Amino acid sequence: MSIIGNMKTIEIFIGSPRKNGNTAAMADMLCSAAEGEYRLSVNYLYDIDISHCIDCRRCLAGKLICPIADDMQLIYSKLDAADVIVFGTPLYWYGPSAAAKLMLDRLRPYYRNKGLKGKSLALLIPAADGPPDCDLTIEMFKRSAALLGMKFAGAVTAKAFDIGELTGNEQTEKAINELFTGITAAE
Ligand SMILES: Cc1cc2nc3c(=O)[nH]c(=O)nc-3n(C[C@H](O)[C@H](O)[C@H](O)COP(=O)(O)O)c2cc1C
Repeated sequence: MSIIGNMKTIEIFIGSPRKNGNTAAMADMLCSAAEGEYRLSVNYLYDIDISHCIDCRRCLAGKLICPIADDMQLIYSKLDAADVIVFGTPLYWYGPSAAAKLMLDRLRPYYRNKGLKGKSLALLIPAADGPPDCDLTIEMFKRSAALLGMKFAGAVTAKAFDIGELTGNEQTEKAINELFTGITAAE
């Protein structure tokens, strides 16, 4: 086991307004898999003040940073220090939740400054209708990761609607353990 100073960091962003919902349950499973091997940080996007990207293009020139003074500045520091970035989002209309999309839009500085290059990206997505409907969302994040020079470590999707439905779900737990193995292999 690594000593804490040398541990790599997984930053998990939960894009569900339900703190005890299915996305959070999937994040908990990932935390259980990674505990002791990675430093873990869980962020609830609905608690964080993230403004819309206004396409001011200030991040495309000069210092290549976003000038908007909101909580995203703290998230940028966390992303800069992270080794693995995990987006957990419920499926909303075949896409990510609004909070997850807000954060994705604000990753635009990294398009030019390449600050996320080489880091891993993974996804956790619960959906009422199950995995087949998550394809567009997975593709969106996969292509965005490629554009940012990130390693796409994979996605776990799960069929769930009500809170608590994934508790003790062995199939989802197994898939998340495998995702974690894939993350560690890529690091
Ligand atoms: C606004 C909204 C849109 C949704 N759209 C979809 C959808 O397109 N497909 C689907 O399978 N489930 C959809 N759902 C259901 C959620 O994805 C599902 O309940 C999920 O488990 C919620 O995760 P959470 O408990 O982490 O919030 C939607 C839910 C909401 C609130």
